Amino acid sequence: QQLSVIDLYDKDIEDKSTVALEGSVKTIRGSKNISFIELNDGSCFRSAQVILKKDNPNFEEISKLPIASTITVEGEFVKTPDAQQPFEIHGQKVELVGHSNADYPLQKKKQTFEYLRTIAHLRPRTNTFYSVFRIRSLAAFAVHEYLQHNDFVYVNTPIITSSDAEGAGAMFRATTLDMNNLPKDEDGKVDNSKDFFKTVTNLTVSGQLQEEAFTMAFKNVYTFGPTFRAENSHTPRHASEFWMIEPDMAYTRLPGMMDCAEGLLKYVINYLLEHAKDELDFLDQNVEPGLLDKLRGTAGEEFARVTYTDAIKMLQESGEQFEIPVKWGMDLKSEHERYLCEEIYKRPTFLTDYPRDIKAFYMRDNDDGKTVAASDCLVPGIGEIVGGSEREEREDILDKKIHEFGLKPEEYAWYAELRKYGEIKHSGFGIGFERLVMYLTGMENIRDVIPYPREPGNAPF
Ligand code: 4AD
Ligand code: MG
Repeated sequence: QQLSVIDLYDKDIEDKSTVALEGSVKTIRGSKNISFIELNDGSCFRSAQVILKKDNPNFEEISKLPIASTITVEGEFVKTPDAQQPFEIHGQKVELVGHSNADYPLQKKKQTFEYLRTIAHLRPRTNTFYSVFRIRSLAAFAVHEYLQHNDFVYVNTPIITSSDAEGAGAMFRATTLDMNNLPKDEDGKVDNSKDFFKTVTNLTVSGQLQEEAFTMAFKNVYTFGPTFRAENSHTPRHASEFWMIEPDMAYTRLPGMMDCAEGLLKYVINYLLEHAKDELDFLDQNVEPGLLDKLRGTAGEEFARVTYTDAIKMLQESGEQFEIPVKWGMDLKSEHERYLCEEIYKRPTFLTDYPRDIKAFYMRDNDDGKTVAASDCLVPGIGEIVGGSEREEREDILDKKIHEFGLKPEEYAWYAELRKYGEIKHSGFGIGFERLVMYLTGMENIRDVIPYPREPGNAPF
């Protein structure tokens, strides 16, 4: 019966029994009498060591194989309690079943992440990217598990939409119109009624607005899906296509929203500390020294909570020379966010009650007339990882803000109607999944935590 490499580690396999495997050659070393083959089948981070001796009929052929060749191995499973690896396989029947070329770009020596981005189709096979993408998968599972255990209902909001959830205009058009031959109306303007949906549509920037309709029905809901932003930001933490987790909770105020975000982040970290040991060890040793201590620390400590106004004072009084000076009313830049959580608090930090003018129209006005009940969570090394708020549930104030923010009321009529038929105080937030994976893996560039990154000027594959 054919086994996977992970079975050899996890199942209680009898010493000296015969096992069969199929996988890729990760490395081969040895001498003219013996070969040591690291066999990898992707089922776990680790490989199985196969030993092949000169008396084997295929010894010559197998020993010369290029890396990434596929072989089948039948052999004796031998426990090696004193060695670094807990077992080895003494190959008996070893056969080549799939060729690979000798110019395989992932030879043993370390390649830069920049170079590996140019071969995004091959990089999942490296130790680093294998670790990152397994952690990404486990983290997604943990997110669902945490929210489902806490009675959240998973809602799938549309990818193609006619409304701009953030009101920021950073949207990709979704159209079937021929750009070289656009239909025009009598005034010479593009006639969008000739488009597929007979109106202008875009790729979603956030599922929040459509999701809120479900908050009213199910109390606790979440989305977890791809979102798209046509921001021309060339930074290591902005992607044009990224995944977002958006929980939304009825009868919940800002402190409850922050408790949920904090609980979720800690749950995901604890889940990985338990289920991604090999991967986290590797990243701790090779990518971010201290990663494990950082994660254990985050899971065990209370996040800081401070108002935007107090944070501005602290930044101004810090004596630090920022590239962009700190002023009340400004949208904090990454240098300010990072100073707050890295130098002042040294842990994840919730910033609350931002100026209303720099935040989205749907955020609930505070009584001071200047701020909104919003909260972002900033984490060391990255900056903003969570953005959330109480939602403006008062019908009259929401209507006023839609006008004030220059949005078209007819496009938001259905959204305003959610208030018209029952004002419910509710709050929610969005976690950028890639930024979370960056934090979990120590990777410093968002392009290295999403399988196929999309960025301004670049969308290969
Ligand atoms: O702060 P944002 O824009 O908030 C929203 O979209 C709300 N609708 C969320 C909600 O309340 N339901 O985005 C939320 C998070 C940010 O904190 C950041 O982590 C991530 O999404 N994010 C990005 N990640 C990668 N690339 C980008 N261009 C991102 N823009 C936002
Ligand atoms: Mg934000």
